[in-house]
Amino acid sequence: KRKIIIDTDPGQDDAIAILLALASPELEILGLTAVAGNVPLELTSRNALKICELAGHTETMVYAGAARPLFRDLVTAEEVHGKTGLDGPDLPDPEMTLQTENAVDFIVRMLMSEPKGTVTLAVLGPLTNIALALIREPAIATRIREIVVMGGGFFEGGNVTPAAEFNIYVDPHAADIVLRCGAPIVLMPLDVTHKALSTAARTQAIRSLGNKVSLAVAQMLEFFERFDEEKYGTDGGPLHDPCVIAYLLKPELFQGRLCNVSVETTSELTMGMTVIDWWGATTCPKNAMVMRDIDADGLFELLTERLGRL
Ligand code: BDR
Ligand code: CA
Repeated sequence: KRKIIIDTDPGQDDAIAILLALASPELEILGLTAVAGNVPLELTSRNALKICELAGHTETMVYAGAARPLFRDLVTAEEVHGKTGLDGPDLPDPEMTLQTENAVDFIVRMLMSEPKGTVTLAVLGPLTNIALALIREPAIATRIREIVVMGGGFFEGGNVTPAAEFNIYVDPHAADIVLRCGAPIVLMPLDVTHKALSTAARTQAIRSLGNKVSLAVAQMLEFFERFDEEKYGTDGGPLHDPCVIAYLLKPELFQGRLCNVSVETTSELTMGMTVIDWWGATTCPKNAMVMRDIDADGLFELLTERLGRL
């Protein structure tokens, strides 16, 4: 089993990513670590608990981490995710409780105590918790198996400013620290996730699984999709974060290139932009495997099959 920590700011697409992971026997989830992002930390950590309960995985450990980015004020995305961050289904108040340990301490403790090269970080939100862990204990960098991050964009541009994708924009300084840490990194930018659209047919396939989880997922998708459908006229919304978990299960669904990625942290105009040296224009270290293509049908087949197991 592959050991993972899921760092997340749920978020409907985070929720679906977490459900995909919980349904997959190939993965051992050491814990979920919540971070402020789509909505404030109090809500993201609460949403993480709700999702574990929905899946019937009440044994999952959930930790709360950073309530704000390293240097900048928190920017949230209620216009996409709703006031709770998880608008759509009517999920009960969680009975599970958060672990008392802070998420950053947990990440450091796991990486230092588990055998070197065995723990993967699946990062679905702003990178604040991961950067804080690297600052607290730089030795974790060489112990991480892989960091798979939903974030950034190149040919596709940004979704929160013309230049920047949300997860990187919210905490560009944290993203910069993570990208420079030396651990193997996989980046899932908007160029990939904007191709993973929850079309009406794909949502219907999930709904017709007929279990409690699939109904809740269909309701999440219907709420989440409306933003892109109204604004861009797409059929469905982009399932950003599930791409990270799908990569851990079936990397052959994705295609990309190892290249240098750096993050803009000074210009107000392009703050949080991921500058991706796809064509090897510099000799800067190739620090990330940047994905650019996805087999979207394959992703939805995997997701639908796995949700049917819950
Ligand atoms: C990312 O931002 C959030 O709104 C989503 O959950 C995803 O992680 C997409 O830019
Ligand atoms: Ca997210």
